[in-house]
Amino acid sequence: MDKTHLVDEITGHRRMRRNRKADWTRRLVQENRLTVDDLIWPIFIVPGTGIVDPITAMPGVNRMSVDKAVEAVKEAADLGIPAIATFPDIEMELRDETGSNSLVANNLINQATAAFKKAVPNIGVITDVALDPFTSHGHDGILRDGIIVNDETVDQIVRAAVMQADAGADIIAPSEMMDGRIGAIRRGLDASGHQDVGIMSYATKFSSGFYGPYREAINTSGLLKGDKNSYYISPANGTEAVRDAALDVEEGADMLMVKPGIAYLDICWRIKEAFGLPVFAYQVSGEYTQIKAAAMNGWIDGDRIMMETLLCFKRAGCDGILSYFAMDVARKLAKNG
Ligand code: PBG
Repeated sequence: MDKTHLVDEITGHRRMRRNRKADWTRRLVQENRLTVDDLIWPIFIVPGTGIVDPITAMPGVNRMSVDKAVEAVKEAADLGIPAIATFPDIEMELRDETGSNSLVANNLINQATAAFKKAVPNIGVITDVALDPFTSHGHDGILRDGIIVNDETVDQIVRAAVMQADAGADIIAPSEMMDGRIGAIRRGLDASGHQDVGIMSYATKFSSGFYGPYREAINTSGLLKGDKNSYYISPANGTEAVRDAALDVEEGADMLMVKPGIAYLDICWRIKEAFGLPVFAYQVSGEYTQIKAAAMNGWIDGDRIMMETLLCFKRAGCDGILSYFAMDVARKLAKNG
């Protein structure tokens, strides 16, 4: 009996490889595609002018002063990137116990937003309201007697969110995981005439080791006392994450985010299926760094894995991805037409 006959007996007419046989069949059956419209580019802002300061733990990523960031954001808009997400590296002397600089109308983050909206009006600006860039202890909220106090923090971030919207932010993205924040921010924005400012909730933010390089980027790693386990979700819990997202949907979130990304694709899928809202994944600093470091050692094909990971987010149901690779991806997509 010949071997072909044996295979036929098992597969019958079912041969998956027919659709994979040529480039044209593969293109025809491709289910998901990554385009420039899927990209949100996170950037780090520092005070001063003319500064482009490389972040050691994130090769290829820089902290930029507002003037330099404006140039970079122009380039992003020219490439067709729909939105940026900004994170400030605040001067140490402005950081305090309560993160009071978050309530200064022309603080670094708001200066940057105003500059971007003026110079590059056709790119969306997404701002975070967590307090960690502003606190002397590196936590996302107000720390009192060893506890991150929920309601007082919410009260402060609502006021910060309104100031960010006043400065021109298009979407407020609260990442500090306090309870009740989405509804409170929505009410605050509406009451101050910002009905059109959206909320992208960091609905499921996990307590993760993947944030390490980010904490170097905004200089919170040396400050952080303890961990963030009392407000971020445990990596062990999927159902709890879906429930947390459900509350944010009820409270009025326009978009949901899952963070970190690649290790949490199940959460992306569950949340997309459960709510049907636009879902975004944040491919965080540690994910970026892993790929970069291995590629720089010649151990993996970095470009290939960059494209593969972003496509996998699409397959998992994401409408878009926040990624430090956004500019590289946009350039690559532009080149390949
Ligand atoms: C905190 C915040 C974090 C990130 C953005 N804002 C996590 C943290 O420091 O705990 C992580 C982003 C990244 O790792 O790329 N509000």
